[in-house]
Amino acid sequence: MSRLVPLPSFALILLSLFFFITTIASAQNCLPSYCSGLTISHPFWKIDNQTSQYCGYESLGINCTIISGEERPMMSFGGDSYYVRNLTNTSITLVDYDVSSVSPVQARCPRVKHGIELGRLPLNFSSNNLNLSFHFDCTGVPPHFATVIPCLSNGSKWSCVNVIHPETENHDWGESACEDEVLTTVLDAVLSNERLDAGFPRALSTGFELNWQITTDDCAKCEESDGLCGYNNSTASFMCFCSDGTSTTSDCKGTTFLIQLFNLVVTMSQSLVAC
Ligand SMILES: *[C@@H]1O[C@H](CO)[C@@H](O)[C@H](O)[C@H]1NC(C)=O
Ligand SMILES: *[C@@H]1O[C@H](CO)[C@@H](O)[C@H](O)[C@H]1NC(C)=O
Ligand SMILES: *[C@@H]1O[C@H](CO)[C@@H](O)[C@H](O)[C@H]1NC(C)=O
Ligand SMILES: *[C@@H]1O[C@H](CO)[C@@H](O)[C@H](O)[C@H]1NC(C)=O
Ligand SMILES: *[C@@H]1O[C@H](CO)[C@@H](O)[C@H](O)[C@H]1NC(C)=O
Ligand SMILES: *[C@@H]1O[C@H](CO)[C@@H](O)[C@H](O)[C@H]1NC(C)=O
Ligand SMILES: *[C@@H]1O[C@H](CO)[C@@H](O)[C@H](O)[C@H]1NC(C)=O
Ligand SMILES: *[C@@H]1O[C@H](CO)[C@@H](O)[C@H](O)[C@H]1NC(C)=O
Ligand SMILES: *[C@@H]1O[C@H](CO)[C@@H](O)[C@H](O)[C@H]1NC(C)=O
Repeated sequence: MSRLVPLPSFALILLSLFFFITTIASAQNCLPSYCSGLTISHPFWKIDNQTSQYCGYESLGINCTIISGEERPMMSFGGDSYYVRNLTNTSITLVDYDVSSVSPVQARCPRVKHGIELGRLPLNFSSNNLNLSFHFDCTGVPPHFATVIPCLSNGSKWSCVNVIHPETENHDWGESACEDEVLTTVLDAVLSNERLDAGFPRALSTGFELNWQITTDDCAKCEESDGLCGYNNSTASFMCFCSDGTSTTSDCKGTTFLIQLFNLVVTMSQSLVAC
């Protein structure tokens, strides 16, 4: 009889070894990734060949793309591409790819083609931004508050830009007879000392800031309990990957207890064997 007893405890040792291995495997997938000097971690994630999507929100994937021989972090939403200029623990700075310094097509006098559609992204415009309104190819009369852009105008058609204020927001542009209008956002500080007509190319290529403080509470609790933050796309909920290989929707305090219980059972069965 006594020679048969060690078997269950051997199985338990195998089981704990298994837990240990899955821990390493699942935890490493959600460790921060890097792209061109940026640290990418929850709720963002780096798009690669691995299925690391569950490390962040599906819509917050960053594509580390090679552009003109250099690694560039890029994001896509609303059908447009953005260069990720910076990423901090509370905000992300994006530049419309068409007018960014990483685009191989550079224009001294860029004509912005589209607005910024955040859609359902879990991000908000920062208060450091300023909204700009561009009107292109107009033939009528410019309103007094707009700045005509000489390099985007010629004898027959003019273009202009203005900062959107509550007073100008509802202006009727009918008498300006413009062919196209684009609303966009830039960092306020870039334009503070410059005239709009001279400063707008640099403002566009510096980009705008978005805040993403939404998930930090959950994530902080998860990390405090030695977990790594993730996101389950199919349940659309926050996930915490614990160092024991399990995942929870809160933090790892509960599962740590389970692991302690498990270790206790192992120890107890081993002492039973010893008897
Ligand atoms: C991803 O997979 C493609 C082909 O499947 C391969 O060419 C590429 O090198 C892989 N990239 C990484 C980062 O593993
Ligand atoms: C990432 O960028 C590369 C190169 O531009 C592109 O081929 C690929 O489709 C992009 N992947 C995603 C998921 O956007
Ligand atoms: C990114 O943001 C951090 C924190 O605000 C700042 O220290 C750093 O200089 C920024 N990097 C770039 C490239 O702007
Ligand atoms: C963000 O990082 C800065 C240091 O770079 C730190 O002082 C601040 O507390 C952090 N904020 C959050 C919300 O984690
Ligand atoms: C700019 O526009 C966005 C979206 O329309 C809005 O959420 C934001 O409050 C505006 N910012 C300013 C400074 O007017
Ligand atoms: C003037 O500019 C508009 C677009 O800004 C263009 O369609 C038009 O052909 C230009 N006319 C001349 C004479 O260059
Ligand atoms: C972002 O905007 C949404 C909807 O307006 C709001 O519920 C949320 O609290 C905002 N988040 C931040 C970080 O401001
Ligand atoms: C996400 O949630 C679904 C449904 O609860 C579950 O089957 C799946 O295993 C979860 N994904 C991960 C990576 O835990
Ligand atoms: C994530 O969920 C959305 C909505 O349920 C779905 O459209 C999308 O295909 C899912 N993506 C992945 C990678 O599972």
